[in-house]
Amino acid sequence: MLSIRDLHVAYGGTRAVDGLDLDVAAGQTVLLIGANGAGKSSLINAVIGLVSSARGQITFEGRNISGLSSDARARLGIGYSPEGRRVFPSMSVKDNVLSGAATKSQREQSERWDQLVASFPFLAERQAQPAGQLSGGQQQLVAIARAMSGTPRLLLLDEPFLGLAPVWIQQISTAVRQMQEQGIAILMTEQMARPALKIAHYGHVMRSGQIRRSGTTDEIKGAALAEEYL
Ligand SMILES: Nc1ncnc2c1ncn2[C@@H]1O[C@H](COP(=O)(O)OP(=O)(O)O)[C@@H](O)[C@H]1O
Ligand SMILES: [Mg+2]
Repeated sequence: MLSIRDLHVAYGGTRAVDGLDLDVAAGQTVLLIGANGAGKSSLINAVIGLVSSARGQITFEGRNISGLSSDARARLGIGYSPEGRRVFPSMSVKDNVLSGAATKSQREQSERWDQLVASFPFLAERQAQPAGQLSGGQQQLVAIARAMSGTPRLLLLDEPFLGLAPVWIQQISTAVRQMQEQGIAILMTEQMARPALKIAHYGHVMRSGQIRRSGTTDEIKGAALAEEYL
């Protein structure tokens, strides 16, 4: 579904991603484990089209998307939840969520809202509240729901557990499992290997812009946990 070949991302002299290959198959959840600065966000941002310095081949469902804008990539079916659970703080929860479906008709948006509320009931309770007033865990769920509102077939989750209490890590893990059941492919990054290994199928350990270890989550568990404490 997603295929990345020989990806390079550099900022001035810093090589953030250094010749990386990665695949995500349909319905698969692939995890990228790495310490701060490993290049995880640079990779995710290159896939959604937010880094102008990315070089290499990125194909989505057989189509080369390297030259497309991030809006065009989103329209093809790639959802994106950025690092640091960025929400629009003064906008309502509902408007935040539906901002991911801005190109869809009113009817589609309202259907999508009903589906998302069925998965995340707190969205309905808090729909009129400014998103900036929510807890960190709730904001992360709003960010994921926004990415989901565009009905993606591939979802990019950049460090969804960052800074969250265990109870919220569990809730987000539950949300990820629901998306897996809907057949959505997921590429997620994490520094926190332990909870992430529980929800992914396949993983890579990344360091200094390169993949150092790849395998099923069982196979990479040792290497991933070691990376967590770097
Ligand atoms: N916008 C930027 N400008 C300059 N350097 C950057 C920028 N974004 C990231 N970097 C550098 O690229 C490297 C990889 O960063 P990043 O992709 O954010 O890693 P991670 O998400 O794994 O923490 C780091 O050395 C970081 O300092
Ligand atoms: Mg990052």
